[in-house]
Amino acid sequence: MLRLAILAGLISLCAAAAKLEEVFAWKEVSYAWPSEDAKNQAVKNGEYISANNLPLGLGRWKDKLFVTVPRWKAGVPSSLNYISLASPNKTDSLIPYPDWKANTLPKGEEKPDENAITSTFRVTADACDRLWVMDTGVADILGEFKVISSPAIVIFDLNTDKLIRRYTLKEGDLKHESFFANIVVDVLPGKCDKAFAYIPDLGGYGLVVYSFADNDSWRIKHNFFHFDPLQGDLKVGGINFQWTDGVFGLALGPADDNGDRTMYFHALASTTEFSVNTNVLKNKTIATDPHSYDMFKIEGNKGEHTQTSASVFDEKSNVIFLTQLVRDGVACWNIKKSLSPQNVTLIAEDHDNLIFTNDIKIDADRYLWIISDKMPAFLYRGLNPDEINYRIYKVAIDEAIKGTVCEA
Ligand SMILES: *[C@@H]1O[C@H](CO)[C@@H](O)[C@H](O)[C@H]1NC(C)=O
Ligand SMILES: *[C@@H]1O[C@H](CO)[C@@H](O)[C@H](O)[C@H]1NC(C)=O
Ligand SMILES: *[C@@H]1O[C@H](CO)[C@@H](O)[C@H](O)[C@H]1NC(C)=O
Ligand SMILES: *[C@@H]1O[C@H](CO)[C@@H](O)[C@H](O)[C@H]1NC(C)=O
Repeated sequence: MLRLAILAGLISLCAAAAKLEEVFAWKEVSYAWPSEDAKNQAVKNGEYISANNLPLGLGRWKDKLFVTVPRWKAGVPSSLNYISLASPNKTDSLIPYPDWKANTLPKGEEKPDENAITSTFRVTADACDRLWVMDTGVADILGEFKVISSPAIVIFDLNTDKLIRRYTLKEGDLKHESFFANIVVDVLPGKCDKAFAYIPDLGGYGLVVYSFADNDSWRIKHNFFHFDPLQGDLKVGGINFQWTDGVFGLALGPADDNGDRTMYFHALASTTEFSVNTNVLKNKTIATDPHSYDMFKIEGNKGEHTQTSASVFDEKSNVIFLTQLVRDGVACWNIKKSLSPQNVTLIAEDHDNLIFTNDIKIDADRYLWIISDKMPAFLYRGLNPDEINYRIYKVAIDEAIKGTVCEA
């Protein structure tokens, strides 16, 4: 009986993993340099140190798959990049977006251009063909910590690759400990000018809201934006570390007749999921009023080892997908069901290939895109350049949830 149960378990594990299609797999990422000379020059002067380039965030728009490479260390030649999905090969080079110049660090007294990207972790392509980029403005984060520019929201028109707007966050939006590694956009198709961006501050435990119509931002504080001291001791890919990351993953539920949604959120170092209606966030007066405290709700607990970086919501299935950092996988939860460990299940798990599922996105064709990148090894030990370290997968959502507790 026991052997049968183990066998059944193995089969279901394999089935879960087999559903994912591996689209990219790199030992180290390479870039589409203008010439071999340019590359050699960059290697020579230290502007390109291959091992220091960790792909982290992703996002698909039409034939482009955006891949961010934050400037954790020196030697990252370009932070915002894409790969063409027209005829991909598994080790494709990254192409700087919108171009090389915007991604090249200024030299000496040079001022960065308006469309320049110093360092970005995650991006969002919205329903209005715009790319929203949170530029932290800091290069060599773990080394010299070079502040090139102030944290800014940078918005591109994906049809023309032109800058739409660069909005520098206000003094009041920032704390000394601020760390902006995510950006989520709230917009209804056809109401592009009414967009809002929500930017979690995982280091300063707050949420910054930006109104595109008002060209204004404000900062919200709440106890639920903090980390859980019992959930910050993590072990991933054989590496044990302690993190204090607060609010991180934001997933927007369906819009009601007023265009308001439920925003589901969690701290990274936590296993609890919370929610708040976006009508609280979008109105500056209500958002910053301490009396709004009770408008933030506890959805429930996801269970042991369910620490999540990114999360995304699929409207058709009512399912939220959650990266599972400690479990080497991705989980789902159907929001029509109460949140408890039993109502959260893994749709993928792979202890070799899904080590640190860093980012997750849903594209217009309802494919889930997942990137795993062994980030703790990159940060604390160094990666082995002879192994595949970074992988990008996709899977159709209905395939992913078939037969699970998340299916309606
Ligand atoms: C795949 O892309 C890499 C990087 O651009 C290139 O070196 C390699 O030749 C390509 N492979 C094929 C089969 O096209
Ligand atoms: C948005 O506001 C900033 C000041 O916070 C200003 O510099 C910028 O010009 C404004 N942009 C637009 C499009 O109004
Ligand atoms: C924000 O909320 C306040 C208080 O309820 C209300 O008076 C105000 O009209 C709202 N502002 C907007 C822009 O909806
Ligand atoms: C799972 O969700 C269903 C539907 O909301 C609920 O009835 C059930 O109690 C939940 N299971 C657990 C163990 O909480």
